[in-house]
Amino acid sequence: QRLSPPPHSTRGFDSSLHALPEPIEPTDLPPVIFGSSDMFEHCPKVCTCTRTYPNVLFCENHNLRVVPVIPERTHYLYLQNNFISELTAEPFANATEVRWINLANNRIHRIDKQVFEHLPSLLYLYAQRNQLKEVPAGMPTSLEQLRLAKNRITNIPSGAFSKMGNLTLLDLYHNQLSDSDLGKNTFKDLHGLMQLNLAHNVLKKMPIGVPKGIIQLFLDKNRIDGIPKDYFNGFSHLAFLRLNYNQLSDKGVPKTVFNISSLLDLQLAHNQLSSVPMFNSHLEHLHLNHNTIESINGTLLCPYSMEVELEDHSLLPRLRYLRLDGNHVSPPIPMDVIMCFRHLQSIVI
Ligand SMILES: *[C@@H]1O[C@H](CO)[C@@H](O)[C@H](O)[C@H]1NC(C)=O
Ligand SMILES: *[C@@H]1O[C@H](CO)[C@@H](O)[C@H](O)[C@H]1NC(C)=O
Ligand SMILES: *[C@@H]1O[C@H](CO)[C@@H](O)[C@H](O)[C@H]1NC(C)=O
Ligand SMILES: *[C@@H]1O[C@H](CO)[C@@H](O)[C@H](O)[C@H]1NC(C)=O
Repeated sequence: QRLSPPPHSTRGFDSSLHALPEPIEPTDLPPVIFGSSDMFEHCPKVCTCTRTYPNVLFCENHNLRVVPVIPERTHYLYLQNNFISELTAEPFANATEVRWINLANNRIHRIDKQVFEHLPSLLYLYAQRNQLKEVPAGMPTSLEQLRLAKNRITNIPSGAFSKMGNLTLLDLYHNQLSDSDLGKNTFKDLHGLMQLNLAHNVLKKMPIGVPKGIIQLFLDKNRIDGIPKDYFNGFSHLAFLRLNYNQLSDKGVPKTVFNISSLLDLQLAHNQLSSVPMFNSHLEHLHLNHNTIESINGTLLCPYSMEVELEDHSLLPRLRYLRLDGNHVSPPIPMDVIMCFRHLQSIVI
């Protein structure tokens, strides 16, 4: 019984770049909701209301400096791209139906916690590109998505995420969080969390207390130089792990730390690795470009012994895409790599 040769097996390299499959993001527009037009009263003068979407209040791009009084019927509140500097409770007094608030790209440096007392049904809070120095306190436990990227956050008040078991997405990309801001209880209640983005902060260590059910963990552009040996134990759904632009070297990467059977996509570009770390046979995409790797030993990396013929083809390693450019490796690709990784469709050297 013989295995068929992999495609491109004799080619030196193939520079085609395949787009990565990403988890599907929710759409940025609300679903169409039709209501009767007699609900159309109390439209703030500074906003726009339409009869087609009576539950949507359009106040984006209106040069607003203060939040107008939000009518009771509002489910979707668009306040992005304005000059709002703080959120106080009064305008929200009757806004108890609000599910979605987009505050992106304002100048918000303060959100009164009383604001949230009026918003028991809030599901999505988007406040990226503002000037917050802290994660807001008192956010409702109903939240499903919280985007706080590109603020100036240096502090997460204790209990900020408590009881938020429905939160699936937490985006803290591009803030100034350091190791001491993330305690072992910070993410403790986030049992439903699927996506956590802590990229572009100032972490030196892997964050502690990340929920084990996470699917996507982004830690690019920090200063992480090592990963504890058992760090990923129990992470049974982790599929996308990004650690590009950190300070990982062979010394800080225990031999089998990335042997995570759920992992599909591992990105370790722009670090200081001098050898290819071991990975699980389920991995499909591996980014190792711009490290200091000098050679790749397929025999050593191969998750099965190439001496004996594999009887079960489903055990073949699933690696399809490998980036090694920006290292000290030059073509051709060693024969043992080609023989082991038979699903490999492209290697960038
Ligand atoms: C809230 O609703 C009540 C009753 O409809 C109304 O009397 C009050 O003026 C409203 N408050 C605001 C801030 O709109
Ligand atoms: C979490 O989601 C479930 C299912 O949609 C819902 O029944 C529950 O009330 C939500 N929890 C909170 C705190 O809103
Ligand atoms: C890697 O993980 C698999 C389970 O997914 C296990 O069978 C294998 O022994 C591990 N390899 C090493 C070198 O630890
Ligand atoms: C690859 O690793 C194997 C097993 O450790 C070793 O026997 C072999 O010599 C290595 N190949 C190269 C080209 O270094």
